[in-house]
Amino acid sequence: MYKQKTKLEGIAELIQPIGQQLTSIEKRLRETFNDQHDVLTAATEHILDSGGKRVRPTVALLSAGIFEADQKHAVSLAAAVEMLHTATLVHDDLIDGSLMRRGIKTLNADLSSEVTILTGDYLFARAASFAAQTQSVRVMNLFAETLMTIVNGEIKQSFASENAASRQNYFQRIQAKTASMFALAAEAGAILGTNDEKAIDAMRHYGVQTGIAFQIVDDILDFVGNSEDIGKPVGNDLQQGLLTLPALYYIEDNPENSDVASLRNGHNNDQELYERIIQSISSSSAIDSSLDEARQYVESAKSALQNLPNCKHLDAMYTIADYAVERRF
Ligand code: IPE
Ligand code: IPE
Ligand code: MG
Ligand code: MG
Repeated sequence: MYKQKTKLEGIAELIQPIGQQLTSIEKRLRETFNDQHDVLTAATEHILDSGGKRVRPTVALLSAGIFEADQKHAVSLAAAVEMLHTATLVHDDLIDGSLMRRGIKTLNADLSSEVTILTGDYLFARAASFAAQTQSVRVMNLFAETLMTIVNGEIKQSFASENAASRQNYFQRIQAKTASMFALAAEAGAILGTNDEKAIDAMRHYGVQTGIAFQIVDDILDFVGNSEDIGKPVGNDLQQGLLTLPALYYIEDNPENSDVASLRNGHNNDQELYERIIQSISSSSAIDSSLDEARQYVESAKSALQNLPNCKHLDAMYTIADYAVERRF
């Protein structure tokens, strides 16, 4: 059976400086609002209880910790970021028609599209309310801009023609959908604790670069991971017409391959073709090339930390950056 992975296994010791706060967040995320409908409560509990690695709130808390931000505000920020992430997943799974997430059924597997969309909206609003509890207008602005960036990026993607699949588009997309949220976590944590703009910029850079690496690895795991470990279906991206970094490397490396040509020609319902290409990509050098590229982003993320105050929180930030590429789920 799928094992719940609510913690960053393997690095638990290193994130020990924020262990207590991570526990507080779990409580905050489950707080209910006046007269909240049972369906919303059940849906929220369902998705929170299923686990999730809690990487983004960890980044927010560590960043706030480096700058000794007010703990209550830091916890509100971390709850806001995780709730925002959760809300985007609820809508993402509905849009993708995915039936499994975190090892259990998605909301859209059981609920109508209307109720799933509204539940996602509710979670977005909960996230905004947590963001407001940081008492920082700058953080609230950043929060709103991040959500705008994510949605704008997804809309752009859905109107892009498949022929436009290129590294440039890929990186634009993952910056919008994933790196922006990591950047929010890291930057806002710093904003809560310091006025030093250089330090705030450094944390933003760290967040962007770590987020890019994290998404590249998510895309690699879609080829080489196994669905029990990662808690969601694998091999999905290609079939949804999404050419991620491993696929782009493979296409570049095998321009004469006839399967590649049919991939390039766009949507195709040939299941055997997809299985064959997924197999070929998984066992090709495209995987290592993608991993190497992710590692370069991690190095860039770590270099942003160079001039920050040395402390346990900072050490853990280095570890989280490495974890973004070392992880297997
Ligand atoms: C999944 O994020 C979506 C991506 C941007 C890759 P996570 O891998 O952090 O998902 P959970 O929260 O641990 O389930
Ligand atoms: C989801 O990215 C990111 C957002 C919801 C904005 P993915 O589509 O790669 O995430 P998974 O693979 O479904 O977790
Ligand atoms: Mg998805
Ligand atoms: Mg994915």
